[in-house]
Amino acid sequence: MTVEDEAVRIGADFFQDPHRLYSELRRTGPVRRVVLPRGVLGWLVTRHADAKAVLSDPRLSKDFVRAGELLERNREPGSPRPEFGEELQAHMLNMDPPDHTRLRKLVNKAFTVRGVGHLRPRVEQITESLLEAIAEADEVDLIPALAFPVPMTVICELLGVPAADREAFGGWTRVLLSTSASTVEITEAGVAVGAYVMELIESKRSAPAEDLLTALVEAREDGDRLSENELLSMTFLLLLAGHETTVNLIANGVLSLLRAPAQAAALRANPALLPRAVEEFLRFESPVNTATMRYTTEPVVVAGVEIPADEFVVVAIGSANRDAAAFPDPDTVDIERELNAHLAFGHGIHYCVGAPLARMEAEVAIGGLLARFPDLALTGTPLQWRESTIIRGLHSLPVRLGRT
Ligand code: HEM
Repeated sequence: MTVEDEAVRIGADFFQDPHRLYSELRRTGPVRRVVLPRGVLGWLVTRHADAKAVLSDPRLSKDFVRAGELLERNREPGSPRPEFGEELQAHMLNMDPPDHTRLRKLVNKAFTVRGVGHLRPRVEQITESLLEAIAEADEVDLIPALAFPVPMTVICELLGVPAADREAFGGWTRVLLSTSASTVEITEAGVAVGAYVMELIESKRSAPAEDLLTALVEAREDGDRLSENELLSMTFLLLLAGHETTVNLIANGVLSLLRAPAQAAALRANPALLPRAVEEFLRFESPVNTATMRYTTEPVVVAGVEIPADEFVVVAIGSANRDAAAFPDPDTVDIERELNAHLAFGHGIHYCVGAPLARMEAEVAIGGLLARFPDLALTGTPLQWRESTIIRGLHSLPVRLGRT
């Protein structure tokens, strides 16, 4: 029997209830050989302490060039490999220091707590107009109505991307993040996104504006701070990470509240709890969930298991955040939870640069929704989770707005 015969397989059924497998693995095998969709082989880490250690261990690398080579070796023979956008991979999340440090410095300032504080009134305005637009409806799908357009509009405005393009971009990224899309679909979406980002950069070159993309184009032109591929990749990463994650923080947060009406009532009664509630939503149904990957540059021992060099380590953030060793009563939503040291934004040098923005957007969107619709409820339609190892998010979130 080979190691792969005993491996955990992440198949289509996993996505509808990952917590069952996570809980079993934390108990019986916290570092296990795993086969991800499309045959990628790695080691799945499911406990909080191990996940935290792995995320900040410099012996684990994210270098995309080497990771690409290792992918050939660490996959089941014959599995299809989508060919997509080498020119979109040269971004900070796929790099180690010193390149990682150089790239992160270029955008860090735009996303500090202070930097995003200035955006709050605009986020409130966007939220209000979206809530106004559904005020007369009986039932809506909250994803297209609120959870998607809030972060997408904000990141587009910050970067200087035309609002009209956001649906197309959202469509491509949904395909890129889906494990059920075919390799042809993924390749096509990758080509379309690449062409789109290139066109966007050209438009900033010919018509500079007061936005983050123009600032990045200027950094590219100014000496050796940013290569052309890095510029394209950074734009792609910010657009992707700027919305694909936060849409699910908002929607998963609302779902958690609607399934725990006493918690929703407590939050309505005391909106000052919102920041703490958002931390709990991040922990409870973490938007970046199953597979944040790195590879070992030397043998590394995790929870007593020796992982050889040049193999992928897959951190299940969504599992770490339900570990009873780190969170009492982990499967219960508690918006007043204290000491919530979740790993939803990662840990170490790649800790999410957009965390202050995501938190603020979620506070505004969820706070605004609760205040406006006191009788908000689920419609009872069965919910379907997207099939993605990166993202935990719903296809749709139908609710009754319940105006009296
Ligand atoms: C990195 C989660 C929102 C931009 C990360 C990482 C996680 C994460 C887990 C680290 C991945 C790893 O180490 O493998 C989230 C969640 C979000 C969110 C859960 C929302 C709820 C955002 C937003 C942006 C953003 C709004 C903004 C533009 C980034 C970038 C990185 C990153 C650029 C790479 C940082 C680096 O490599 O140094 N995010 N993110 N994210 N995130 Fe976020």
